[in-house]
Amino acid sequence: MLPTIVREADAVVMIDQRKLPSQEIYVRCKSASEVAKAIRTMVIRGAPAIGVAAAMGIALGMRKSKSTGTQKFAAEFQHVCDLMASTRPTAVNLFWAIDRMKRTFAAAVQAGESVEQIKDRLDREAELIHDEDVASCRAMGAFGAEVVPADAKILTHCNAGALATAGYGTALGVIRGAVERGKHVVVFADETRPFLQGARLTAWELVRDGIDTTVITDNMAGALMRQGKVNFVVVGADRIAANGDTANKIGTYSVAVLAREHQIPFYVAAPLSTVDLSTPDGAHIPIEERNAKEVTHVGSARLAPAGAKVWNPAFDVTPHELIAGIITERGIFRAPFAETLTRAFDHEPARV
Ligand code: MRU
Repeated sequence: MLPTIVREADAVVMIDQRKLPSQEIYVRCKSASEVAKAIRTMVIRGAPAIGVAAAMGIALGMRKSKSTGTQKFAAEFQHVCDLMASTRPTAVNLFWAIDRMKRTFAAAVQAGESVEQIKDRLDREAELIHDEDVASCRAMGAFGAEVVPADAKILTHCNAGALATAGYGTALGVIRGAVERGKHVVVFADETRPFLQGARLTAWELVRDGIDTTVITDNMAGALMRQGKVNFVVVGADRIAANGDTANKIGTYSVAVLAREHQIPFYVAAPLSTVDLSTPDGAHIPIEERNAKEVTHVGSARLAPAGAKVWNPAFDVTPHELIAGIITERGIFRAPFAETLTRAFDHEPARV
């Protein structure tokens, strides 16, 4: 399986997702601030992956700390956590991972551990977050495969694959799960303007896996559905509010509306770390706006005239009414999401 992100003793190493598919280059981040920069500039992206990167970045930063006293070490830890939290605002997995590292730090201090012991604990926790994410993706793949049609024509948007997670993927995990269980699957990958995660990353991953993949531009999805060429949609998520409203890559909402019009089931696949019960609904999800250059340029080539204004929200919100089910590592949750998602955290048995 593709190594999205790996922790080495003195670095966090990640494949540069800005360069794929033309170049497979690995970036070595040797400090917490280099990891933060890699998240901000989208060397690594995708909600679960940036959570893992932040956790590893915090562990790396603290491993390299020269502080000997717990107080100074704690102040440094807080600074590194704040740095990670400032990178990208929408994906809640980032904040979830930072909180987990904070709880680990607090437990170590409470237990009276030395600075060296705290460093070890932080390393272990970051590794655990990584490994749990892969396991969650595989569980999502197993649950999701159940609802994929036997002869599946799947549309997906953005990249919710191995590259966007610690491995295997959420939406692409569901696709991989269906293929592994013998279903016949063809995939349509929206190119996903402006960063082209679909054309560059999803297509790259699926082609490597030998899965039949067709890239379309985002504005072709309606015509494709109209011609009966799609019978299932699955996407990832950056934040799922308590009522099921889901923030995901810009353009996801349009796909969901089109799916409803054509009576095609629209599923979201995400780990429970993406569910944010403290955000009541989609209107409360912070939406990142990125640099205008992502829209006006492709690479160094200018597309739009200088002087044109640009709106570049990185995400949109799909209202819960358009979602057939949310595929998680604990089963598939359906409406009324305000009830079922809350119960998902209550150690209820998984449901399909
Ligand atoms: O801006 P990105 O590339 O980080 O956005 C990624 C997405 O919107 C993904 O669909 C989402 O994070 C789920 S990844 C499993």
